Amino acid sequence: MQEHTPADSGAKTWSERFSEPVSDLVKRYTASVFFDQRLARHDILGSLAHARMLARQGIIGADDLRASEDGMARVLAEVDAGTFVWNLDDEDVHLNIEKRLTALIGDAGKRLHTGRSRNDQVATDIRLWLRDEIDGIVGLIGDFQRAILDLAGKHAATPMPGFTHLQVAQPVTFGHHMMAYFEMTQRDKERFLDARKRLNRLPLGAAALAGTAYVIDRESVAAELGFDGVCGNSLDAVSDRDFAIEFTAAAALLMTHLSRLSEELILWMNPRFGFINLPDRYCTGSSIMPQKKNPDVPELVRGKTGRVNGHLMALLTLMKSQPLAYNKDNQEDKEPLFDTVDTVVDTLRIYADMLSGLNAKDDGVRPENMRRALAEGFATATDLADYLVKKGLPFRDAHGIVARAVKAAEQRGCDLPQLSLDELREFSPVIEADVHAVLTVEGSLASRAHTGGTAPEQVRAAIARARVLLK
Ligand code: ARG
Repeated sequence: MQEHTPADSGAKTWSERFSEPVSDLVKRYTASVFFDQRLARHDILGSLAHARMLARQGIIGADDLRASEDGMARVLAEVDAGTFVWNLDDEDVHLNIEKRLTALIGDAGKRLHTGRSRNDQVATDIRLWLRDEIDGIVGLIGDFQRAILDLAGKHAATPMPGFTHLQVAQPVTFGHHMMAYFEMTQRDKERFLDARKRLNRLPLGAAALAGTAYVIDRESVAAELGFDGVCGNSLDAVSDRDFAIEFTAAAALLMTHLSRLSEELILWMNPRFGFINLPDRYCTGSSIMPQKKNPDVPELVRGKTGRVNGHLMALLTLMKSQPLAYNKDNQEDKEPLFDTVDTVVDTLRIYADMLSGLNAKDDGVRPENMRRALAEGFATATDLADYLVKKGLPFRDAHGIVARAVKAAEQRGCDLPQLSLDELREFSPVIEADVHAVLTVEGSLASRAHTGGTAPEQVRAAIARARVLLK
């Protein structure tokens, strides 16, 4: 290669065979540098591991390696300091960094790309980057879960209505309700860690698609970069983005769980429920209605779930018709992936803080309103039916008896426990004085004392198990 600095001529790194430059529009359309510069640190990490392997294999000289290491340290310092000048002419993060390295160290910088292509390079960069992000997200899920456990612990015995069809169904404790979200997010965490296992393989060595004729040592590069092994097929290594899809699917599920919780917080904030009172810093007012306190943060979580679901769809669609191996389509994987990570990270952070705030606020949780809602919903009707079954009635008969009792209580404007023993016995003579222990909310809760049940001691046991998992 003759001495030629494309930076000066404005020509592209690969442009020697072309007879005219690309138009400005095409340049902008095809460039990724304004978003993929986010991969710079991992790009440099991967390049250095590649360079060390090339030197070990005698493909580049020890002096080239030393120059590359020194040069890359300077490039990284510039990136970190924000002084690195990103250039649209150089298309993407890889070419920008290579160009800068070459400007700093000369020919050694040009030798770095030996036995490698941007195709295996970018696949490596995204995996390295996403692996770190997954570790961060798993930690943030842990923070969210700790906030859930604190709230659940404080309210392990606080009765609230459990709902089906959004109608009062049976008493549960607020702690039990919160612990449902521990379970969901625990599975989310497992899904992220599972995706991490599959993505943790090294694409480098696949080169453009067919591998490389240089005698490389992929395994040592994999080990240096903390991969569990190398990708087993060069075509697959450069072309598939299933790991990004898997990650985004896990993210969409996590967001879906947080969206369900958000929906509940929004309902509970409504004075007709009045179960919670979010701290003011998570709400906003209205510019026209002075009385308003709107639960904007949970509403936005619910809204942003749509955004992550959209990214999942975008990535699936991106992949579905691509022939092997690499196609430029894949450059479109980054923005959805980046935005998914940003959305999930911000959402988890704000959520953990919001739940802690709810827990710390005196009237953050409002047990008196939960109890009032319970009293209005005949929440212990099932307990009465179970009581009749224990006294020997078939369940279907018990169901009918209780339905009549509920109707009577409704006409009288009271709840089941307010009916006297005599009144209750009109519906069935098997009812005795012990019935009232069953009809109370506390009695109902206490009776569900199996693993996974809502009895306060079971909620405490679930919290204890969860704390062990979080250690
Ligand atoms: N910027 C590209 C991407 O994100 C890097 C790989 C480009 N390879 C190529 N042959 N054009 O996918």
